[in-house]
Amino acid sequence: MSSSSSQALKIGIVGFGTFGQFLANTMIKQGHTLFATSRTDYSHLCLQMGIHFFRDITAFLDADMDVILLCTSISSLSEVVGSMPLNCLERPTLFVDVLSVKEHPKNLLLRVLPEESDILCTHPMFGPVSGKNGWQNLTFMFDKVRIKDEVTCSKFLHIFESEGCKMVEMSCEEHDKAAAKSQFITHTIGRKNQSWDVVLICIVDYTYTTDSPDKSWKTLSMPYKKSKRRWSKQWRKDRTQKKLKVDA
Ligand SMILES: NC(=O)c1ccc[n+]([C@@H]2O[C@H](COP(=O)([O-])OP(=O)(O)OC[C@H]3O[C@@H](n4cnc5c(N)ncnc54)[C@H](OP(=O)(O)O)[C@@H]3O)[C@@H](O)[C@H]2O)c1
Repeated sequence: MSSSSSQALKIGIVGFGTFGQFLANTMIKQGHTLFATSRTDYSHLCLQMGIHFFRDITAFLDADMDVILLCTSISSLSEVVGSMPLNCLERPTLFVDVLSVKEHPKNLLLRVLPEESDILCTHPMFGPVSGKNGWQNLTFMFDKVRIKDEVTCSKFLHIFESEGCKMVEMSCEEHDKAAAKSQFITHTIGRKNQSWDVVLICIVDYTYTTDSPDKSWKTLSMPYKKSKRRWSKQWRKDRTQKKLKVDA
């Protein structure tokens, strides 16, 4: 897609850390015009990537973007958004967040953003490791929290659709409930025995690749059972060896 294409967006990234940079690479490849601001000075990197970097948040907001993409850490979102002089926005803008939790950004953005700003809460359930060879079949969760400008929202979602992501529309509340369940399983099994690493890898993979806990649990149960059998066998072997040592 060329930058003159009707699909091209002006996207401003707030928080240009690992994940912001990861998303920016694909957006640039697709022909979007990118802007960035961050706590750290990324001017040099941005220059190399062809991105306009702003140290000053007011100048950043003056750049008149279609989309403001919030890629800061979960813990800093409130402070970062709170420090934005939102009255500098020239026109209604689509705010998108990518936080791995969803109710928190939804509630915050509804509370602090001007009424005329649209809100799309998303969770790309992949990252620089799982998405290093492309985003095909990786899950992209989204919730159209407050959308009046459907065209801009569709163009933004198209970034992920066109890369082959599995697009999953679900509410932020449903997302967090499902995530809480998966984390419960992870912690429960994770604590039981650290050598169940196969199980843990499957569960982490499950968290990042699926939208259906029930379906995933079925997918998981095979490696889980295999791993448990393997672990029990190893445990019996170790116990026998220890016993032999003591007896010797
Ligand atoms: N990494 C993934 O695989 C992945 C996947 C899906 C969603 N996400 C979400 O994407 C977001 C970014 O994740 P990440 O992997 O880049 O790492 P992260 O440690 O969660 O966030 C790093 C970003 O937050 C900014 N930041 C941290 N503390 C700040 C503060 N006190 N004030 C201002 N900015 C602050 C950093 O800015 P500076 O760099 O300027 O210091 C950097 O841009 C998170 O909300 C995460 O939940 C990540």
